[in-house]
Amino acid sequence: MMQIPLEIIPEESELNIEELAKIINSHRFTGIICAAARLGLADLLDGEGATASELADSVKCRPDMLYRLLRALASIGIFEETPVGTFRHTRASLLLRQNAEPSLQGLASMTSLMHFYAWPEILYSLRTGKAAFNKVFGEGLYEYMADHPEAAEPFDRAMGAYTEIVTAAVLENYDFAPYSRIIDVGGGAGIFLAKILERYAHIHGTVYDRDHVVARTLERIHKMALDGRMGVQAGSFLEHVPAGADLYTIKIVLCDWEDSDAKRILKNIRRAIRNNGTLLVIDGMLPPGNTPCYAKLSDINMMLMTGGRERTEDEFRQLLSESGFKVISAKPVHEWVGLLEAVPLP
Ligand SMILES: C[S@@+](CC[C@H](N)C(=O)[O-])C[C@H]1O[C@@H](n2cnc3c(N)ncnc32)[C@H](O)[C@@H]1O
Repeated sequence: MMQIPLEIIPEESELNIEELAKIINSHRFTGIICAAARLGLADLLDGEGATASELADSVKCRPDMLYRLLRALASIGIFEETPVGTFRHTRASLLLRQNAEPSLQGLASMTSLMHFYAWPEILYSLRTGKAAFNKVFGEGLYEYMADHPEAAEPFDRAMGAYTEIVTAAVLENYDFAPYSRIIDVGGGAGIFLAKILERYAHIHGTVYDRDHVVARTLERIHKMALDGRMGVQAGSFLEHVPAGADLYTIKIVLCDWEDSDAKRILKNIRRAIRNNGTLLVIDGMLPPGNTPCYAKLSDINMMLMTGGRERTEDEFRQLLSESGFKVISAKPVHEWVGLLEAVPLP
């Protein structure tokens, strides 16, 4: 094997052996957190805490095995073992409760039900350019979820949690006041639109998404006090996008799609939007070079789960201009997420 002289490798790019070994084994962290989420352990624990034996019956696990799981979780700050052998909540374990706000229970459950099966097929995606998910599950992610509410429901909640985290940053960075009607294309659980409508009492909005998704969104809207200002419309953005809004938003959607499909969606928005309308794209934004960024891993996740991709600002600009839009501003809003404002080209 060819020897690589160490002096040509920049020191700052190096992980030490322990760090690299931990990264190689990071599926262990995912595995124990996903198990906790699927068993609903965080919801079972009350303020008093409980022993593994006390919890074992309700989650149908062997007490000795459950103890080992809880001990491993406690070793990374999820639950804490007390001197009397009970486990109680930590700040991190509270985030795994289903009704926490925000909650990461949906993210962990969805990961354990879908991502955990697709990722081992990474070589398939690298060699074929196709989504590993389709190889493992026999159909695309969104088709699968249409028939599997047990996977779709945590997916919606996972997206909702990301949205909770990102929306505050979007609201700080963008003034929605000039608009009166918003259509959120692929708006999923409707959390993003609801937060905008809560802040701006004069705006009306519609979540546009697939029928099985908006059915669940509608249930949630009924529980929110938005005075009839928020509604849903079912359809496929690959075929059609409804007209009638002065602002179209599309958040964490284009990353699901390869360029040809992403352009198809954007061109459908272009057909629907008025000449003086505005389009807001909120999505992962890849920084150049070696800059560490979560979007670079999310990009691989897109490759495997949907065949989509994360993009650089320049790639977004090109995609939008080839779909009939001109970008008038682009900025990062939250860690790996960027916001692009675009207007229709004549
Ligand atoms: C990654 S999720 C993002 C959801 C939401 N915008 C957010 O940021 O939380 C992508 C959304 O696109 C929707 N979607 C997928 N295919 C679609 C289609 N053909 N037509 C309309 N919506 C679709 C999914 O149902 C899902 O809600």
